[in-house]
Amino acid sequence: MESICTDAQKEALQQLECLFNLDSDQLRKFADHLVEELDDGLRKKDEDSAIAMLPSWITRHPTGQEKGQYVGLELSGSYVHLYLVELLGQGRTSTRQQKYLVADRLKKGSIHPLIEFIAGTIGKFLDFIDMKENAGGIPIGLAISFPLHQTSLQNAVVLKWTKDFDITDANDKDIVALLQTELQKRYIPITIKAVLNGTAASLLAHSYRSLDTLLSCTVSTGTNAAYWEKASAVKKCNFEDGQEVIINTEWGTFGRHHEHCLPRTFYDNRVDRESTNAGVHHFEKMVSGLYLGEIVRQILVDLVDRRILFAGRCSSELNQPQSLPVSYMNAMEQDESEDLTNVEHIMESIMNIPKTSRHDRHIVKRVCQLVSQRAARLVAAGMSAIIKKSGALETGLTVSVEGTIYEHYPSFPNRVNEALRELYDKKFENINIGVTPDGNGVGAALAAMIGSCESARN
Ligand code: BGC
Repeated sequence: MESICTDAQKEALQQLECLFNLDSDQLRKFADHLVEELDDGLRKKDEDSAIAMLPSWITRHPTGQEKGQYVGLELSGSYVHLYLVELLGQGRTSTRQQKYLVADRLKKGSIHPLIEFIAGTIGKFLDFIDMKENAGGIPIGLAISFPLHQTSLQNAVVLKWTKDFDITDANDKDIVALLQTELQKRYIPITIKAVLNGTAASLLAHSYRSLDTLLSCTVSTGTNAAYWEKASAVKKCNFEDGQEVIINTEWGTFGRHHEHCLPRTFYDNRVDRESTNAGVHHFEKMVSGLYLGEIVRQILVDLVDRRILFAGRCSSELNQPQSLPVSYMNAMEQDESEDLTNVEHIMESIMNIPKTSRHDRHIVKRVCQLVSQRAARLVAAGMSAIIKKSGALETGLTVSVEGTIYEHYPSFPNRVNEALRELYDKKFENINIGVTPDGNGVGAALAAMIGSCESARN
């Protein structure tokens, strides 16, 4: 490819390769610092540590033999997703599901319109599964994809609204109580039995299928990891000794104290500055779906401004923040045609760049590869930090992964594996990676099952 580029283009690409290619030593260094912060977070109060390490109040591994019917609700970055989950035993489940788009206006301002919307979706879903009349008997669990401070399985305060959410009046408000009141107001007969973070839910779901699951990792609009930790290690809470508890790490916040270990570039700084929550969640902004396309866009605009790309011609579309979603990036990276016709279509017909040369299109494709490859390698390094901390590598372990980027960006899983192989060599074989589609919903339903058993005991 290099031979078809001009000297200036070659030089610009080399600079980008230096910035975005992370070697194994950089990944190890990053993982070592992450381990320090994970340990620190287990000791300090949620709001005082760089990485929150939030206990989920799930202190019991499922056996895989549990049975019953439960409703699970997932609030992710873009959708409320509802599931009727049948636990069939032997780690098997069946689901019926529906999803409802969360409009942008609900993501900003007061929490009440969002709660009303969620209650409305539960009502519609119960109609859909024909249970509006007799839902009283069905417990529901909530998987909320935000950092939650909890003092039990049945309450949760969102510590910080992440991704593109900016809710302004929810400080200290228990979202379970808000939602339960709204459900009662609407005579929707269903009881919330549990709440937990989405990634924690996904871990629970995979643990039902595979008892040796240690950790779960989400790479979606946002990113996160949750893992089973010994209760005695969680110094900030009093769990019974001998138990294990799911910890929601909130690893997306990494970078606050160890900026030098996170190789952020000029482009990452720009993306951060223009984001809804500037100055925080640096790791998330290098890794997850809400930001990857934006990093690519920032690089392309810079290359245009330096007259290295598109003969220096931009378009109002390319100048527009967030105009290049990760789905375009994916399509451009997958383009194997000789003339890169998909890249041409996206750049010329969608982004309205007046004219692209073949050289330009190769550069665009390479930029997409560099940005997604860096993300995958950082995710692998993050996983390796938790694996190292647990000491489980020798005996073997299962990692569960979920999220649109991991599941639908075809080169992503291979790149994660490649990086893990570099880090572990032959011991990589001891890591079993499983994808958990619908993990949030199934995990929320399992949490509802655990919550119902607890209420029955008390
Ligand atoms: C949130 C996490 C969530 C992750 C994946 C992040 O922005 O802080 O709580 O699990 O996104 O959705």
